[in-house]
Amino acid sequence: MAVFAELLQLSSSIIFAALLVISLMTLNLLRTKNVKYPPIIKGWIPWLGCAIEFGKAPLTFIKESSEKHGEVFTFYAIGQRMTFLTDVRDFHLFFNSPQADFQRAVEDAVKNTAGINRVDFFTNHRRIHDLVKGRLSSSNLSKLTPKVGRKLEEYAASGSLAKLSLEEVKKLRKVEHCILEAIRLRPAGMIARKLTGPMQVREFTIPAGDMLMISPYWAHQNEAIYPDARSYVPERWNQTVGSDKSAPSDKFFAFGGGRFQCPGRRFAMMEIQMFISLLLCSFDLELVKEEVPLPSPRHVVGVPHPLSPCYVKMHKRVRTV
Ligand code: HEM
Repeated sequence: MAVFAELLQLSSSIIFAALLVISLMTLNLLRTKNVKYPPIIKGWIPWLGCAIEFGKAPLTFIKESSEKHGEVFTFYAIGQRMTFLTDVRDFHLFFNSPQADFQRAVEDAVKNTAGINRVDFFTNHRRIHDLVKGRLSSSNLSKLTPKVGRKLEEYAASGSLAKLSLEEVKKLRKVEHCILEAIRLRPAGMIARKLTGPMQVREFTIPAGDMLMISPYWAHQNEAIYPDARSYVPERWNQTVGSDKSAPSDKFFAFGGGRFQCPGRRFAMMEIQMFISLLLCSFDLELVKEEVPLPSPRHVVGVPHPLSPCYVKMHKRVRTV
């Protein structure tokens, strides 16, 4: 009798546990069913996914996929899920969400290109980023560019064509606007973050583990933000505060954004500004062919390369004084 009672108790516990497992699974299933994922482009070949199509012309692939599937879409390539956000109104999620992780997105590239292992990278990256950012801050710039700076001071002292000192170069807003406009037209094709947790974007849930991507290149071609976006119009920057701020506008993504925005941005702007000023003081430039080459649709990391060479004739300017 006692054995029978024990068996009865055991079987009821098993039934209870089974029911619990079934209800949890059903609940999970219902929850998953209610989750809406972005449209997925799987490609024809398992695992490889869209790698070939994407690799051939990534910029074109991003544009066409967004036109076909909407402003948020996912595609598979080499076993990795990549989700693109193509509407700049969603970019704050990319730059500011804690689960959109810069370090995890770049750790493989850092290991493969610089040979820095994961542990060293995660231990030191944040500190080094802040160090570089501090060293390249506006107040340190003149110390970092002594050679070009000296050359400019020489120009100023010798009363050459243009009276140019380092301080004066900083005031050349027109030059700055030309540089900003060139960078707007040719920024990186894409930048990435890795999702360490699921992210809600509009009605879509983007699962943890996805590579989250945005394209500064296509964002800068948006007519609603930059009217006549394909044209080179330096005057569009006339109203901006200048690159002394972290970005000239909150719709300018050439230097990325968020915690790990490019720490060299002010240094880069200053160097280019000094270089262009010196170049224009020393040479008259003439385009050999009128048309400027289009960007290559293949280069998405870093500055896009031109599709063909752009020949320029340089005539040494004669000092008049
Ligand atoms: C026009 C010139 C430049 C452009 C357009 C540019 C653009 C960028 C972009 C888009 C990123 C990724 C940011 C993100 O994912 O949010 C980046 C990162 C970075 N840039 Fe630049 N950059 C330029 C010049 C420079 C220069 C001159 C330096 C250093 C002297 C520099 C140092 C870095 C570093 C170290 C990172 C990685 C940040 C980190 O690991 O925390 N960049 N840059």
